Amino acid sequence: MTLENKVALVTGAARGIGKAIALNLAKQGAIVIGADIGQEQADLISNYLKEYGYNGEGIVMNVSDQESVLEGLSKIKDKYGSVSILINNAGITRDNLMLRMKPEEWHSVINVNLNSVFYTSQACLRDMVKNRWGRIVNLASVVGLIGNAGQANYTATKAGVIAFSKSLAQEVGPRGITVNCVAPGFIETEMTSKLSDEHKAAYMEKIPLRRAGSVDDIANAVSFLVSDEAAYITGSTISVNGGMFMQ
Ligand code: NAI
Repeated sequence: MTLENKVALVTGAARGIGKAIALNLAKQGAIVIGADIGQEQADLISNYLKEYGYNGEGIVMNVSDQESVLEGLSKIKDKYGSVSILINNAGITRDNLMLRMKPEEWHSVINVNLNSVFYTSQACLRDMVKNRWGRIVNLASVVGLIGNAGQANYTATKAGVIAFSKSLAQEVGPRGITVNCVAPGFIETEMTSKLSDEHKAAYMEKIPLRRAGSVDDIANAVSFLVSDEAAYITGSTISVNGGMFMQ
């Protein structure tokens, strides 16, 4: 139980990768607060944590809205104490070719995937700095490294969080805080279930390990980065992509 009594905030924890991360951190003893967009999602989080007998709960937090982030964090602090592990996982796609992309498709993806990381990180950092310990892990993506036609908005946010993490890692390293990214490849979740069979087959061709990744493959990398064993790793991006792209 290496994370005993540490308070972890996982955004977008109702399902998919976020849920796997939340469960994995809770298994190691962390008090896990899973944040998601609505009450229904928050209830799902509270229920699965309860089901396993883990500490923590789901809360409503719209990560693209700074006020909602600050409000959520203040409730967490009052009830559990300050967040020392922050996992920025919430993310959306609004794919379209550049010539057809609507401003709403651009802005919503930037707001949820990138602006959110600024809001949550800034708000959590104050106490991490005071406590001289903190872990921030941001979910990037293989396409943030190599690009992807039809995803200029999404890839810009994922490349953005990688550069953000490097800059912040330099700022807060002296305070005992590490900031890293995990860049998943093709992972089986609701986000990727929208892809056509043809598209999925094309991905498989490019993956040397010849399978899609599981949510646990990602959660394991996140757990490593927050552990004491990873104390000397900061500003890094760990690719978990079955060899689809090798840095
Ligand atoms: P998902 O779509 O299954 O789950 C995302 C979660 O975020 C949902 O529970 C959703 O309600 C929540 N969310 C969306 N907007 C929100 C907001 N404004 N405030 C709070 N919560 C919000 O996604 P998935 O596949 O689990 O992805 C998780 C992360 O991993 C994302 O950042 C995604 O970009 C990244 N990723 C996923 C890959 C995949 O193959 N599934 C590949 C590479 C990166």
